[in-house]
Amino acid sequence: MNPVNSVLITGANAGLGREAARQLAGISSIEKIYLACRSKDKALAAKAALERETKRSIFEIILMDVSDPSSVRGAVAAMKKPVDALLLNAGGMGGRSSNAMTTHGVTSIYAVNVLGHVVLVDEMLERQLITSTVVYAGSEAARGIPKMGVPRPALRSATVDEFRAMADGRTFTESSDPMEAYAGIKLTAALWMSSMARKHPHLRFVTMSPGGTTGTNGMDDLPFLKKLFFKHIGGVLMPMLGMMHGIEDGAKRYVDALLDPKFESGSFYASAGEAAVGKLVDQATLFPTLGDPLVQDNANLAVHQIVTVQAS
Ligand SMILES: NC(=O)c1ccc[n+]([C@@H]2O[C@H](COP(=O)([O-])OP(=O)(O)OC[C@H]3O[C@@H](n4cnc5c(N)ncnc54)[C@H](OP(=O)(O)O)[C@@H]3O)[C@@H](O)[C@H]2O)c1
Repeated sequence: MNPVNSVLITGANAGLGREAARQLAGISSIEKIYLACRSKDKALAAKAALERETKRSIFEIILMDVSDPSSVRGAVAAMKKPVDALLLNAGGMGGRSSNAMTTHGVTSIYAVNVLGHVVLVDEMLERQLITSTVVYAGSEAARGIPKMGVPRPALRSATVDEFRAMADGRTFTESSDPMEAYAGIKLTAALWMSSMARKHPHLRFVTMSPGGTTGTNGMDDLPFLKKLFFKHIGGVLMPMLGMMHGIEDGAKRYVDALLDPKFESGSFYASAGEAAVGKLVDQATLFPTLGDPLVQDNANLAVHQIVTVQAS
């Protein structure tokens, strides 16, 4: 497997993606960092600030909206050189209406966390533009965070249709709890990544949760009370209670997953305990369904069927 000298980061202009770009630029073997962002203005501002902070001119902007497959395809078509690693970081709650349907026949929260990332990986594989590692931004929500009132996603039979239903508005409707939708969608994505690891053994596919992280905009789109709890109260209290950590710690998890081969292909790493910080473990040790190849392949089939349906 190639060493990682170049990295493309989605959602690189803010939060954990931007901090990962900053930390990676501090490593002398990293020669190129592609900032994949949906807003040109925000991307230009982030690039200028990163150059100033790191004193390196290794950043290049790629305009890409990961909730829109045609935007992703256009961006990949314009790429001239292969990239060693992808950090699939863009995501979050999918705007103020997480479970509203997009024009692509999926919910907004699914579109931003999964749809375009599936297209991005496939297009880069197809064009032989990725040489080493793919890291996906997972979340402890995918296995439940009891201490924060987030239940483990309830899978009935883990069929392809069950995963499709979580994306296409049948399971999560506009009145559903955005956190439950988020958990189900991050679970689907972690399973997709594990299946991809078996299908493409020449690359390393790792899902890594940054952990509960303060100082990002990630909670901004939650309904008022949840935002108050997770962002404002939680942002102050939870680090004190050892339940969340700062952005440097969150992004460091990504950097470790990108560069350290001890994080094995096909695995989903996140916090060991009931909270969302601390020691990392393979989450299949806590939630055995994550390690089931049949379930992984069902999730993979589902995310690909969704890409095919929205393209036809
Ligand atoms: N923070 C946490 O506690 C936590 C915990 C576990 C997992 N995560 C995961 O970590 C990732 C980053 O979260 P964060 O907390 O850093 O969030 P954030 O501060 O809101 O940053 C999200 C980034 O993604 C970009 N983005 C959003 N939608 C996009 C789209 N359609 N196309 C391209 N870029 C898009 C945003 O760009 P704009 O500025 O244009 O909106 C921004 O740069 C997410 O996948 C999240 O689910 C976060």
